[in-house]
Amino acid sequence: MKKTEATSTEQNSTSNPPRISVIGTGYLGATHAAAMAEMGFEVVGVDVDPKKVEALSAGKVPFFEPGLPELILKHVQSGRLRFTTDIAEATALSDVHFICVGTPQQRGSNAANLKYVEDATRAVAASLTHDGLIVGKSTVPVGTGQRLREIIAEVVPEGISTELVWNPEFLREGKAVFDTLTPDRIVFGGASAQAEALLRVVYAMPIATGTPVIACDLPTAELVKVSANAFLATKISFINAIAEVCEAAGADVKVLADALGHDVRIGRQFLNAGLGFGGGCLPKDIRALMYRSSELGAYSAASLMQQVDEINMGQRQRVIDLALASLGGSVLNRRIGVLGAAFKPHTDDVRDSPALNVAAALHLRGAQVVVFDPEAGATAKAMFPTLTYVDTMEDAVTDADALLVLTEWAEFVDADPVKLAGLVNTPVVIDARNCLDAAAWRGAGWDFRALGRPVPAEVATGPLAVRPLVAAR
Ligand code: UDX
Repeated sequence: MKKTEATSTEQNSTSNPPRISVIGTGYLGATHAAAMAEMGFEVVGVDVDPKKVEALSAGKVPFFEPGLPELILKHVQSGRLRFTTDIAEATALSDVHFICVGTPQQRGSNAANLKYVEDATRAVAASLTHDGLIVGKSTVPVGTGQRLREIIAEVVPEGISTELVWNPEFLREGKAVFDTLTPDRIVFGGASAQAEALLRVVYAMPIATGTPVIACDLPTAELVKVSANAFLATKISFINAIAEVCEAAGADVKVLADALGHDVRIGRQFLNAGLGFGGGCLPKDIRALMYRSSELGAYSAASLMQQVDEINMGQRQRVIDLALASLGGSVLNRRIGVLGAAFKPHTDDVRDSPALNVAAALHLRGAQVVVFDPEAGATAKAMFPTLTYVDTMEDAVTDADALLVLTEWAEFVDADPVKLAGLVNTPVVIDARNCLDAAAWRGAGWDFRALGRPVPAEVATGPLAVRPLVAAR
């Protein structure tokens, strides 16, 4: 990598505040750009999609993320935040360039598609008109940064000094603004002393409030992010595997998870058994780790991730089996009300959504599936247009032969089971997120089913007296 003795970015770390460019304005980039503006920097966000740039420039966010539209509008209006499709314009005006583009799963492979990260990094490096720091934030397989350093060295203009570091992002959808402004930890990978000093200026605000900084090498930083997601996924699949034991033994996984959670070494979070994980990150990240660890000959991690993935995908089938068993073995021409399409609450994201996957599978088996989601109706319709989408929970529930709660939105958790019982054709409910009050729903006359929870004796001897998960196989 080309180096000069003192870069302008170093000078900036001691004089003017660094100016920031953010390449890619999806969930990660749009939130990071807004947060950087909130932290007091001049920020320009870059995206190849002119429609996205136009929307963001008007303070509109093309996806549902609580608090983000307000923050973007605030800083578009303050003049500190703007958006462009012109990468050269953005790099000319900036000193620190954050790479925030996607790394989706490759078609037909478990590997991550690194095309966007490579293209964005190449474009930034090639367009540098003055020295600058390139900071990778996207989730990438370990070893990517080294490859990007080689690309940068090939294209950076003569006389320009630059450096690539890795600074992974850990934000959750639905809490993206909070997570970005107040991160749990900040990781700098592969940074020189000068680059670290500059990053400490960029993150001065969270650092001042005590956020720990971990400075490490490039591969460790890449792996921290991947391992964090792999661990969360493992925790979910662990509790789902235990839920299967609970079912077989008549134990209650919800009570068990509460009891486990009191052990501070375990913790209660990510121990909610049910339909399992989905979304734009966890599934593709564990598969990319599976692929990359195999490439590196680290087979234990690869086989662990394979098992985590299998357990997780199996949960979707278990809910489908439960629906089939609850309707006597066939869903053909039966009306199924589905509450929830998003992969989790507080988002309209339906990428690899377990909820939409189950709804679609039942539709393909001949059920009349009627879906309601408070935010994800439009995104779900775009992804799977042949399902019926309605605008209220009541419309989804009315005349249903079975009701499936597939995303734990507060509106569903707080719903009145007595009122809903009056709307359905048959009061059968499957709580696939273990989010409802079983006693209250049973008290309102519902045949209440959930994963990993015992069936009361009176139900177990009634018409649905089957071990549902076994019976449907
Ligand atoms: C995740 C990571 O949490 C975040 O740190 C990373 O930066 C991106 O990936 P996100 O995809 O927004 O964030 O979702 P998350 O809140 O982690 O939930 C993932 C999935 O796990 C959801 O489908 C959720 O319903 C499911 N889940 C979560 C469970 O099934 N059980 C749980 O106990 C927790």
